[in-house]
Amino acid sequence: MPEQMRAATYTEFGGPEKVSINSVAIPELKEGEVLIRIKAAGVNPVDYAVREGYLKDFLPTQFPVIPGWDVAGVIEDRGFSARRFAVGEEVYAYARRPVVQYGTFAEYIVIPESYISIRPKSISWEEAAGIPLVGLTAYQSLFDAGNLQQNQTVLILGASGGVGSLGIQLAKAKGACVIGVASSKNHAFMQELGADHTVDYKNNHVGEAVQAIVPEGVDLIFDCASGETLQQSLQALKPSGKLVSILNQGQDLDKSINFTYVFVEPNSSQLDHLRELADAGKLRVHVSQTYTLDETVEAMKQIQTQHTTGKIVIVP
Ligand SMILES: NC(=O)c1ccc[n+]([C@@H]2O[C@H](COP(=O)([O-])OP(=O)(O)OC[C@H]3O[C@@H](n4cnc5c(N)ncnc54)[C@H](OP(=O)(O)O)[C@@H]3O)[C@@H](O)[C@H]2O)c1
Repeated sequence: MPEQMRAATYTEFGGPEKVSINSVAIPELKEGEVLIRIKAAGVNPVDYAVREGYLKDFLPTQFPVIPGWDVAGVIEDRGFSARRFAVGEEVYAYARRPVVQYGTFAEYIVIPESYISIRPKSISWEEAAGIPLVGLTAYQSLFDAGNLQQNQTVLILGASGGVGSLGIQLAKAKGACVIGVASSKNHAFMQELGADHTVDYKNNHVGEAVQAIVPEGVDLIFDCASGETLQQSLQALKPSGKLVSILNQGQDLDKSINFTYVFVEPNSSQLDHLRELADAGKLRVHVSQTYTLDETVEAMKQIQTQHTTGKIVIVP
């Protein structure tokens, strides 16, 4: 087993300049854990939010931190009793642990095998690494919290980003009608993914534009954008409809709204389902840019713009 690896690290909260590339010790393999050689790591907005310290009251942190929660890679070694996967198997995972410390912007990661699923084989390493966090977020929001059903209408706010672009496809696979909201440069992209209608939040009142499409209103709003876009959209929610947000925790919301906040949890059986959809050609990942490990700072700056289309991925 290798003892050292290259990894992006930071030793205190702050901006992208806090991140540097270093040689660090690979943690010892414990019971139930596997060592994964990382082939690709998806980049998510939460990576910069954690680095800035925005989540420090919710997520205990142990410095130095290796950022990154998404991984696709190869099983390199196994700890005692970790026998679900063989050495050499190709897997993917959402690798958020209870304490923030060892992430995926590195050559290796040690994680419990319970987090892992076999990766989709019909897509690239980069595309597979773009699925876990956003795929699980969309899955848990649309189906677990939102209980989305066939023939219902869902309005997705921020539908061209990582979560929204998978959300469009999961909702279409369920047989729902999808209205996607993003700026006009992303409308063709959302339509390619299956959106039935698109709305530009920059040049419209979102609620009025949605009501013009579906006067009876929508069954579910899946909020991946919040702010003005969310406030405007609420007038297009059916009285019996539901709001699921991954950003707004209920602040500024009318108490009469049927509302759930979702914070994504690791779930390997849902990763199995996402793999089946990807291998069936029903879930595509648009990787808009890849970065080397040495370009981690650039990747984290890009994701912090909040205007990434599809996914960006680091290939160590
Ligand atoms: N609670 C959770 O478990 C959880 C999980 C994942 C993500 N999140 C959060 O959810 C948000 C979305 O995540 P993501 O990975 O999809 O982000 P992303 O990849 O950065 O995508 C954001 C998308 O939102 C669009 N957008 C930006 N401002 C908008 C606005 N005012 N109205 C409508 N659309 C807007 C952008 O499109 P344009 O460029 O066209 O504006 C962009 O494509 C992030 O803030 C992230 O931190 C939370």
